[in-house]
Amino acid sequence: MKIKELDQKYIVNSYKRFDAVLTEGKNATAKDEEGHSYIDFTSGIGVNSLGFCDPEWVAAVQKQAATLQHTSNLYYTQPDALLAEKLMQVTGLARVFFANSGAEANEGAIKVARKYSVDRYGAARTTILSLVNSFHGRTVATLEATGQDVFHKNFFPFTHGFVYAKANDLDDVKAKLDDTVCAIMMEPVQGEGGVCPLDASFVQELAALCKERDLLLIADEVQTGVGRTGTFLACEQFDVQPDVVTLAQGLGGGLPNGEECCSEKTKEVFGYGDHGSTFGGNPVVCAGAKVCVDRISDPAFLASVQEKGDYIRKVLADVPEIESITGMGMMLGLKLRTKVSGEAAAACLKQGLMVLTAKEKVRLLPPLNISKEELDAGLAILKQVLSE
Ligand SMILES: Cc1ncc(COP(=O)(O)O)c(C=O)c1O
Repeated sequence: MKIKELDQKYIVNSYKRFDAVLTEGKNATAKDEEGHSYIDFTSGIGVNSLGFCDPEWVAAVQKQAATLQHTSNLYYTQPDALLAEKLMQVTGLARVFFANSGAEANEGAIKVARKYSVDRYGAARTTILSLVNSFHGRTVATLEATGQDVFHKNFFPFTHGFVYAKANDLDDVKAKLDDTVCAIMMEPVQGEGGVCPLDASFVQELAALCKERDLLLIADEVQTGVGRTGTFLACEQFDVQPDVVTLAQGLGGGLPNGEECCSEKTKEVFGYGDHGSTFGGNPVVCAGAKVCVDRISDPAFLASVQEKGDYIRKVLADVPEIESITGMGMMLGLKLRTKVSGEAAAACLKQGLMVLTAKEKVRLLPPLNISKEELDAGLAILKQVLSE
């Protein structure tokens, strides 16, 4: 009880917390202060890609914390260099800037897009087109990049320079593309927007438009990246190669990180002094992240993510309360017929299952290495709760 009281008294009240004080976790199972167990279908919003306290990740983080925990970016460190090499190898991208969160990675992407364009076309070409119903973060610029009016309140003045086009509507995109636009920003699956995948043909057409007009295609893979959808990047399934990819959630295994990854075309946009971060590329974070990338990029691991995603869909296919299932891989949204998603999530928690919501949907983001037993136990609770 004391923890809840302290939290409510001393922590800014910007989160609506579920009614559980979590104290420890193993694989995809968490425990609360009273010893109750919860199967985790949230991964801490897609973050704990290898579950709670994966032994290999813990060992790497502990070793690095006891060796060299921070140096600033004024020095070279081994964990950063090795992570960057591996990440660029598995994504086919060229260079990475290490930040601390998804929003920060997107800030970097916005800066790259604007500098790329201003260097070539002058100061009037700096607008970024993003999609209606997108979510790109909570900083002042990324709130404005987010294509949802609900985020454009209270915090004026926003940075200008964003326009919004409807997802999966190429005509609307073309109508909004005037001479001021320098980039198109999109999430392959709109996660916070309700787990809504973009059509592959739409993303391919966006990529073609970008190529034709020398606009940068920015893929915000903060939620979809690092194996979540069954390929290392979700864009692989659309067969497009963005000019900038942002990552964060699943990469650090639980520690704060954010990556703004540049292609060959954009790798030299930033020079000395154009961007920076005190904490970005922290060696402890990078040592843990390297374990995640090594494990998750293994083709057999990625195939298992796809299989588990298919399995979840199969098990839930005949649940009468579920109207439809959207998403890719292990990023799934369940549209319910009668239940309100938030109430369903609270009811699941009472029965020992953690799930998320995204707008009107129940959202499932289980750890990518969840065991079959945990998956079955969680699905049984979910089915039971939805049938009540
Ligand atoms: C697609 C996407 N971009 C950006 C963000 C912001 O990430 P962060 O909360 O780490 O700043 C999120 C967070 O949910 C996200 O889903």
